Amino acid sequence: MKYLTVNEMSKKWGINERRVRVLLKEKRIEGAKLENHKYLIPENAPKPLDRRIKGQRLFEDSPLKGVDFDFKNYRKQYPTSDGYFGRFGGSFLPKNLQKAFDEIYYGYLTIAKSAKFIAELREIRKNYQGRPTPIYHCQNLSNYLGSVQIYLKREDLNHGGAHKLNNAMGQALLAKYLGKKKLIAETGAGSHGSAVAMAAAYFGLECDIYMGAVDMEKQAPNVARIKVLGGNVIPVYSGTKTLKEAVDAAFEAYAKEYKTAFYVLGSAVGPHPYPLMVRDFQDIIGIEAKQQFKEMTGELPDIVTACVGGGSNAIGMFEAFLEEPVNIVGVEAMGSGREIGKNAATITLGKEMVLHGFNSLVIQNKDGTAGDAYSIASGLDYPGVGPEHAFLHEIGRVKYEAISDDEAAEAFFLLSRLEGIIPAIESSHALAYAIKCARSMKSGSILVCLSGRGDKDMDFMLKKYPHMFK
Ligand SMILES: Cc1ncc(COP(=O)(O)O)c(C=O)c1O
Repeated sequence: MKYLTVNEMSKKWGINERRVRVLLKEKRIEGAKLENHKYLIPENAPKPLDRRIKGQRLFEDSPLKGVDFDFKNYRKQYPTSDGYFGRFGGSFLPKNLQKAFDEIYYGYLTIAKSAKFIAELREIRKNYQGRPTPIYHCQNLSNYLGSVQIYLKREDLNHGGAHKLNNAMGQALLAKYLGKKKLIAETGAGSHGSAVAMAAAYFGLECDIYMGAVDMEKQAPNVARIKVLGGNVIPVYSGTKTLKEAVDAAFEAYAKEYKTAFYVLGSAVGPHPYPLMVRDFQDIIGIEAKQQFKEMTGELPDIVTACVGGGSNAIGMFEAFLEEPVNIVGVEAMGSGREIGKNAATITLGKEMVLHGFNSLVIQNKDGTAGDAYSIASGLDYPGVGPEHAFLHEIGRVKYEAISDDEAAEAFFLLSRLEGIIPAIESSHALAYAIKCARSMKSGSILVCLSGRGDKDMDFMLKKYPHMFK
């Protein structure tokens, strides 16, 4: 019988050498043997395909067990035409604003589904944004942690350095078709704000970005970017001076200007049709990732994970995997503790209520009002969450976990130092969860959505964790 080396087999199967070695270690390649410290693989050995990896499993059951849903047709049913995912979502707005949102929904259904719009957006994604973004296998990090293999979907390499531009370009293109002159947006970490400023420059529109004063200080590099790009940054000084108040202020401005302006919402939240639109503009992440991961490894990952603020990068990543036997985990911010005001773990700790015009899970005070949210990551400190996440949690298809500030900071430095990739502190929450799993599992693969790059966080991290720089 003819035998091939690991290198030859990796070429034959079209997967990387590291993956072949993992399959060998897991004894999943028939007839393979070790001779003089070299693996030899029978030339005709079948490629192990898409079998769930045995060993110490993190989740006992199949991810689809007990979930009575046909996920192949899920998108046709959810959301409903009035924007509901189960009982979550909907639209709770004053009459005049409802009219404006209806116009957006109608425009979305007619314009954004037209062949011309789709072709224009595809062109923008390819030549302006640089899509598809790659999948990267973190060999150093995986080796450091043990035998679980960690992979990243590199949204940090999307133009602008975060996933936010996928959505901003889609909504801004719709604004252009609707004849609007100005884009209005809220921002937390500034990633969405700079994405909207880029979109405004690209389409020749005016641009007003509302941002909490605390976030402006924490995310100063993004404030500068918005200004360089020609956007106006409007500071918000009320409440906790963070994302929740920025949303309030942006809504107020839009209510006055809706005839000539378009509200570019930055996450999978808000009244109908925003959770639907944002999901559809972000689902490119998971569509690409699923195909790329299969091409790279020959199978599906055991776990797919992403951080959840409002939930746009997560829903974009998860959607393509819902119908697959893959564990899906959204990662929220546990901040510095479980008490109200110390975290943004909305699904873990929140209760159902209407906030900012939609029904979902929200962190609540004892009197039933929306509580303050906090996270080291400005992009995660929103007290609500997208209605589709509340729904996927309720039906048990997606699990939601929470990661503390310090765990996220550890992941931030580990990835930077082991792989030369500085992750956004938001994305570091998903990475920290993957690191936690890798430490407790014997084998398997985890695909993390690296939603953005961490340049915007460096000054803040230098100040907050000075001991890491000695
Ligand atoms: C890099 C990055 N990742 C994630 C998020 C969280 O937003 P979402 O949950 O909508 O993906 C933000 C928000 O600003 C962000 O900047």
